[in-house]
Amino acid sequence: MKSRYYLTTPIYYVNGAPHIGHAYTSVAADVLARWKRLDGHDVFFLTGTDEHGQKVEKAAEAAGVPPQEFTDQVSADFRDMADRLGITYDDFIRTTELRHKLACAELWRRLEAAGHIYLGGYEGWYAVRDEAFYDEDELVTRPDGSRAAPSGAPVEWVREPSYFFRLASFQEALLAHYDDNPDFIAPMARRNEVLSFVRGGLRDLSISRTSFRWGIPVPGDPDHVMYVWLDALANYITAAGFPDDSAPRWPFWPADLHVVGKEIVRFHAVYWPALLMAAGLPLPKRVYSHGWWTVEGEKMSKSVGNVIDPRALVGEFGLDPVRFFLLREVPFGNDGDYSRRALISRLNVELANDLGNLAQRSLSLVAKNCAGRLPSCGTDTPDDTILRDAADALPEALRQLLDRQAFGDALEEVWRVIRAGNGYIDRQAPWALRKTDIPRMNSVLRVLVDVLRVVATVLQPFMPESMSRMLDQLGVPASDRDLAALATPLADEALLPAPAGVFPRFDMEAA
Ligand code: MSP
Repeated sequence: MKSRYYLTTPIYYVNGAPHIGHAYTSVAADVLARWKRLDGHDVFFLTGTDEHGQKVEKAAEAAGVPPQEFTDQVSADFRDMADRLGITYDDFIRTTELRHKLACAELWRRLEAAGHIYLGGYEGWYAVRDEAFYDEDELVTRPDGSRAAPSGAPVEWVREPSYFFRLASFQEALLAHYDDNPDFIAPMARRNEVLSFVRGGLRDLSISRTSFRWGIPVPGDPDHVMYVWLDALANYITAAGFPDDSAPRWPFWPADLHVVGKEIVRFHAVYWPALLMAAGLPLPKRVYSHGWWTVEGEKMSKSVGNVIDPRALVGEFGLDPVRFFLLREVPFGNDGDYSRRALISRLNVELANDLGNLAQRSLSLVAKNCAGRLPSCGTDTPDDTILRDAADALPEALRQLLDRQAFGDALEEVWRVIRAGNGYIDRQAPWALRKTDIPRMNSVLRVLVDVLRVVATVLQPFMPESMSRMLDQLGVPASDRDLAALATPLADEALLPAPAGVFPRFDMEAA
């Protein structure tokens, strides 16, 4: 039986248009979802939108549109972004859906029945932009003397009746969980941050608000709406069918991986596991937190006017080059900088030159010198074997690297083989062998086709469209493109379609 794999993106706040930061989280998760499918797993990949809370309510007010209508529009825009980025989600959840309201109400009731919720009053700092409560000692002072959240978001003093979740009582259980599951939070720097936050002592968490209405009502006390993060985190179990444990997708819970940005790791690695423990539900296996993008060295912001629209980038450069760049440019987990020069340079050097040329050179020689039929191989020389072995090792190497979400390292492994392939073709010079040794020319071209097949197969999750075209040109049947199919050699003498370039070059000067 195929093993199940459940992974999620965060659900996006619908307070504005999607930008490259949102695209990043989704593309990364999508590569993993596609990779796991390619590797024979039964995948459930979830994304969606986070639609309640004060921040969204305020954005709707500013737009002069009732909140439900507003979230309908913005959520549709996020779905459009996902579709245009080739995100292969199996479900797109919206927190304003009935299934989610019912799941949240049931989660609340379970927490309450188990004695983990009490009514009190909250007095303290709140940042609407982060939808987060902050302690006095976490705040920073801005140059003008005002206080702000560590993220720079403005804070306001709130004082209202509130239900609390007994988070403090989970401190020891959380620390034990981190200890027993060293891979639960990655990368290491984030894990250390979380550990020191939890070791520093936890306070009970305010989980309801009374000062606005745009949220899920608290069961039995409709003056309160649930804190938006409680509502939001629960999306991951709603989509699996909670509370119906006979739901078809319930066997997917617990999730194998939550992909999140670094600023929301606390919610996913502290609050979420504590809530799940309190509700008697199993915990997700891993939370991976990636870094943030700046744009040409600056923080992305509407006021600076440097927000990068991922759909415009795809329109200009094509889908696959954008997906490739996002995961290639910066080690996952680190912060990175977007610049047009860096983008164009990656596309020209690594896609057009390295990979595009290798494929184009090899396939046009097959078209010209082998009558467009896949040549068969003689006995491998040591040079052939070294290249073949390097390519054949890719699936297992990528399996291990992608299980650690090391996208950049995974791509580097593939590029090592591509660069070796270019060295090989230069050394073997099949164009010269045509005049001296046809069988050897055939062998060399066949090695190249076989190596390209492995490369294109493992790159499909990153660049689905162009790798599908490359596999067409290599004569690989559409039904035989998963990792398992690599075990079966391509048929000798198969007729290959006419080769055509897969990656365009871009003009650096125009950048
Ligand atoms: N709604 C919450 C998540 C709830 S999950 C139960 C939220 N939404 S968000 O829309 O603000 O952010 C969603 C994701 O976009 C986060 O993973 C965040 O890190 C990512 N990014 C937003 N801006 C970003 C950059 N500039 N760079 C990289 N990713 C960033 O938080």
